[in-house]
Amino acid sequence: MPGDKSISHRAAIIAAMAEGSSRITNFSTSEDCAATVACLEQLGVSIERNGGDLWIHGVGSNGLRAAAAPLDCRNSGTTMRLLAGILAGQNFKTELTGDASLRSRPMQRIIEPLEMMGARISSHDGNAPLAIAGRKPLQGMTYKLLVASAQVKSCVLLAGLNADGRTEVIENEPTRDHTERMLRWFGVPIDTGEAEREGEAAHFATVSGPARLVAREVSIPGDISSAAYFIAAAALMPNSSIEIDRVGLNPTRTSFLNRLRTLGFEATVTEAREQNNEPIGLVSIHGAKEPRPPANVQRPFLIDGLAIPQLIDELPLLAVIGSQIEGGVEIRDAAELRVKESDRIVTTTAGLRAMGVEVEEFDDGLGVAGRARLRRAEIDSRGDHRIAMAFSVAGLIAEGKTEIKGADCVAVSFPGFFGLLNSVIE
Ligand code: S3P
Repeated sequence: MPGDKSISHRAAIIAAMAEGSSRITNFSTSEDCAATVACLEQLGVSIERNGGDLWIHGVGSNGLRAAAAPLDCRNSGTTMRLLAGILAGQNFKTELTGDASLRSRPMQRIIEPLEMMGARISSHDGNAPLAIAGRKPLQGMTYKLLVASAQVKSCVLLAGLNADGRTEVIENEPTRDHTERMLRWFGVPIDTGEAEREGEAAHFATVSGPARLVAREVSIPGDISSAAYFIAAAALMPNSSIEIDRVGLNPTRTSFLNRLRTLGFEATVTEAREQNNEPIGLVSIHGAKEPRPPANVQRPFLIDGLAIPQLIDELPLLAVIGSQIEGGVEIRDAAELRVKESDRIVTTTAGLRAMGVEVEEFDDGLGVAGRARLRRAEIDSRGDHRIAMAFSVAGLIAEGKTEIKGADCVAVSFPGFFGLLNSVIE
């Protein structure tokens, strides 16, 4: 698998702020991560790229320069939200913009904490373009996340590197922790754990600023969210099997695999090991003859609550899988899907219905009837890479030929997707 997108963004941004040159191997080939690299270059960071290998010549936490033009984050929410955290602590002004999809996504969730730390940010009613007037130093603070978002958590922690004193982020619903792990890898003391806050168990992550980061070599694990489409295809096609090595197995990202196991699919992990603070391993999956969940699994299979943030990118794919299992699937507490690269509740519902599946749309999710015979359809990806890939898997098991409109958008996370898929299908 290509390098993990989430981890690649963090490696590039954190290496840019470090002292010295960092070599990053298996860097994500995604357009999203290319946007992060281009923005860092505009901020005065020198970066050499040779395929999946990147050399980032870090400028230290004081070395970024004002960009001559607005930074274009293209389709990438992670680029915009993480860079905003860094830029809030600079003594210059930066404008961040993106494509039409990104300009419609909520940014108030980062504007609020960054302003509390002392930056001034203007927006278009909470949307990009954002104009960030940084302040050096920012003021450290304790911040409780209002939405379960790793992007917001990371934004605040990165801002904390250029703040005076402690910056603590508290979350009730644990989200992916790649920023915490990468900061630690680059020598930043970061305290993480569980504690009771206001009578509830909460996760916290604390950094103290101003922080000093030291260049490191980083090898990016394979992207488990990209692997998920291959895993699903093998699971749903009888007599198939697939093995994927060196795939990232961070416990905040493996919920998808765990759900497949609960549903009775045979998914195993071997050769578990660590690579720059991130667990990796070899994932094997075998296609089920008949995807019938064990008797103790409720029907429909419910995915909700705390599980959602750790499955967020795999939910359209789980809806496709749900259409094949006895009892179907119900996804709840997932209103965040509405503010992704597309409104994924709408795009998933529309796609499944076009293929003949009975789907109920809820404000915060969807209910998908199981055991559907998918029929060929024309699916509009609406420019959303995860929709294009989830429905490619659906197309493989549907009768006849399915057409995905705007399928080029897979490049946002996985440019080689169709080539690799073709290469593993007989
Ligand atoms: C990401 C976090 C998730 C995810 C996105 C990548 C990250 O977004 O959907 O694809 O790299 O931190 P939120 O944290 O906003 O839910």
